[in-house]
Amino acid sequence: MLNSIKLKLVIWFVIVFSFFFAGIELFLYYKLEDLTVKLADEHVNSEIQTLANLMAIEEVQGKLESELQELGAAVTGVYAEKLSGHYYQIVSDDGHILVRSPSLALAEESLPVLNPSHEPDYRTIAGPNGEHVRMLSQTFDFSIGRLTFQAADSLDETYELMGSFRKIVLLAFPAVFIICGIGVFLITSWALKSLKSFTAKVGQITEENLSQRLEERGVAAELKPLAASFNTMLSRLEESFSRQKQFLSDASHELRTPTTIIKSFCDVTLSRERGAADYKESIKKIGDTVNRMCDIINRILVISRMDNKTIQFKPVKIDLMDLMKDVKKLIEPSAVNKGISIDLEGKGVVVKGDREGLTEVFTNIVENAIKYNRPNGTVSIDINEYMGSAIVKVEDTGMGIPEEEIEKIFDRFYRVDASRGLTVGSGLGLSIVRTIVEAHGGKVEVKSQVGKGSAFIVSMPKSL
Ligand SMILES: Nc1ncnc2c1ncn2[C@@H]1O[C@H](COP(=O)(O)OP(=O)(O)O)[C@@H](O)[C@H]1O
Ligand SMILES: [Mg+2]
Repeated sequence: MLNSIKLKLVIWFVIVFSFFFAGIELFLYYKLEDLTVKLADEHVNSEIQTLANLMAIEEVQGKLESELQELGAAVTGVYAEKLSGHYYQIVSDDGHILVRSPSLALAEESLPVLNPSHEPDYRTIAGPNGEHVRMLSQTFDFSIGRLTFQAADSLDETYELMGSFRKIVLLAFPAVFIICGIGVFLITSWALKSLKSFTAKVGQITEENLSQRLEERGVAAELKPLAASFNTMLSRLEESFSRQKQFLSDASHELRTPTTIIKSFCDVTLSRERGAADYKESIKKIGDTVNRMCDIINRILVISRMDNKTIQFKPVKIDLMDLMKDVKKLIEPSAVNKGISIDLEGKGVVVKGDREGLTEVFTNIVENAIKYNRPNGTVSIDINEYMGSAIVKVEDTGMGIPEEEIEKIFDRFYRVDASRGLTVGSGLGLSIVRTIVEAHGGKVEVKSQVGKGSAFIVSMPKSL
């Protein structure tokens, strides 16, 4: 469960969202509070400066005392309203309240008297009406002594504003949180749904329906490469499966022919009493057919081992000239029978490879060159090197291979025109040749002219 992409996304969203929102909220809240208090401060300050200036002017005109008395009465506006939240008072040096705004006086209230201070003294206190007020006290020097001016403004409106802000944020936070949360959940669910249906489709594919493919259109962009590589994998699997099936059926078919031959020899031979010479002849024919079967079975075994990768190639340094001499010695008798000569030319080139595997390769190629040659023809073998590669060319003077058949002769069990009257052969030789050569990092090429002959060219990396 903890491994789920959806859960991770949701947790990530909850954490980021909560921190981000809480951060913004706190920042705005304190910024707003700061701003409103600053406004209140400015207001009380301008109030006090106005009062102080007024007194200073009156002092110059010698009307300070009378002005003080006027101030307490002749005021209109918010300062004249009882407990309006806007107050001022002037306190004498000995702590007597000389003047109060009517808003205080009408309620017989006053602002708390502080010690005289020439520095402006701002504080937030409980006002006469129980409200929060921002109060400024500042002392100025006059001819009649030090006077402390005090002004206060209610902060209740500010607090109300902050309260509304808090409410809005507290309401908005869960609402936006839920909407975004649902959004994240739906989007991930939707995205993962295609993954689920993808998984379900993949789960339905077995060896029975390997031809099925995943729909690549309409799949989420992120899943497209997955679908594409899965389809490629399916194609490869399907191909290899059908190759296996084909191989099995070809192999059984190929083995049926010699078995049928053996069976009919047995039936015919045993149908009546015969002389020793007849029996000998029959057993010899059966022996030949069994040899052919053995050859087919051995090749099938080699192919299946190569397919299962149970053949371990042991690379050693091999001089191709030496190897070819051995191959030639092995095959020469059958060439002589057909009056075919084998010429071996070129020079020793060393490659790194498996001795048994490479012997199999060149035996097959040279055998073919003899088998599909004309009587008294020649087989020319040339070993050389070219640009870091060892090149072995086996040329014959035989019947050649039609252009369109050249690629097919490397297929398993494929024989041109079912071997053109030659019964000996399984069609497996060249497929083994190609697999071994490719396992050595090399390649096999064929050049051929019908009626003139063919050339098989094997190239593989030279040993350093
Ligand atoms: N040198 C060649 N000249 C003409 N045809 C050839 C030659 N080598 C191979 N072929 C053709 O390719 C086919 C496949 O060869 P191979 O796999 O060795 O099978 P096989 O020799 O058992 O028939 C042969 O049946 C033959 O028709
Ligand atoms: Mg062959």
